[in-house]
Amino acid sequence: MSRSLRSLNTPNKISISFFLLSIIIGTISALIMLGLLLSEADSGLNLPSVEKIKLKYHYPELVAAMKTTMYEYVADDADIEVVANWISNGSSEEVFEQSIKPIMRRDCTSCHNPTSTMSDAMPGMPLTTYAEVTKHTKAGYSWVKMAKQAHVHLFGIGTFLIIVTTIFAFTSFPSWIRSTLITITWTALLIDVLCWWITKYYLIFAYLIVGAGSAMSGGIIAMAGLALLDCWIVIPFLSKKTQAVATDSDA
Ligand code: HEC
Repeated sequence: MSRSLRSLNTPNKISISFFLLSIIIGTISALIMLGLLLSEADSGLNLPSVEKIKLKYHYPELVAAMKTTMYEYVADDADIEVVANWISNGSSEEVFEQSIKPIMRRDCTSCHNPTSTMSDAMPGMPLTTYAEVTKHTKAGYSWVKMAKQAHVHLFGIGTFLIIVTTIFAFTSFPSWIRSTLITITWTALLIDVLCWWITKYYLIFAYLIVGAGSAMSGGIIAMAGLALLDCWIVIPFLSKKTQAVATDSDA
């Protein structure tokens, strides 16, 4: 008796096929979203830029903002380096009073001030004192933000990945192909999340985030696509012929 997808009855195959199709479209949508958030483009499917990933996971929020969202308010590009160096040298209060506070006062505190009346004000995120500014000098995402992202990501993806990999495990492809794709995808999911954390401290791991993310989404699309085909057709050289014979016996 074969236990391939093709031996399931038609309603079962239809429901599995639509599920897999949703997963494929969902994964592509996620890639479009990441590409747009992490590149300069504003439409289409884009490769995320490693530079943006570094900004998100490695640089302190203050420096990342000065390089991106708040860049338009930075009067002198060299000040970004001054702030970055101050942070990497331990964010001392002395240097803050000397050279950081004047930069904040000139470029930032017109809005980042508890009593600001600017129309675009950020009174909830003041940058006027040493204590206020050093709240935003930790590397990468804060631990809270990171832990939140990590568990939502792992629970969410883990839940649908167990379904996709179980369906793929029941396809008629050779066992080594099934085991390899399943292992790569699960491993990439864990490496991806692990690297968010490691990139906080070691910049080089930003590249592994891109690699693991690509391997995971590639694996999901490949498994879902192959399983979808395997429901309905025999793929030459890949599908096991013995099981192909046992198909279409709709119970
Ligand atoms: C014209 C008002 C204005 C000025 C000037 C301004 N900001 Fe902002 N800032 C905002 C607003 C509004 C937000 C929240 C929404 C957003 O992100 O655009 C924000 C958000 C931020 C954040 C949170 C993270 C982020 O990127 O959203 C940081 C950090 C920050 N600003 C730092 C700075 C620094 C440093 C300067 C000076 C170089 C500065 N801001 C100048 C209005 C301002």
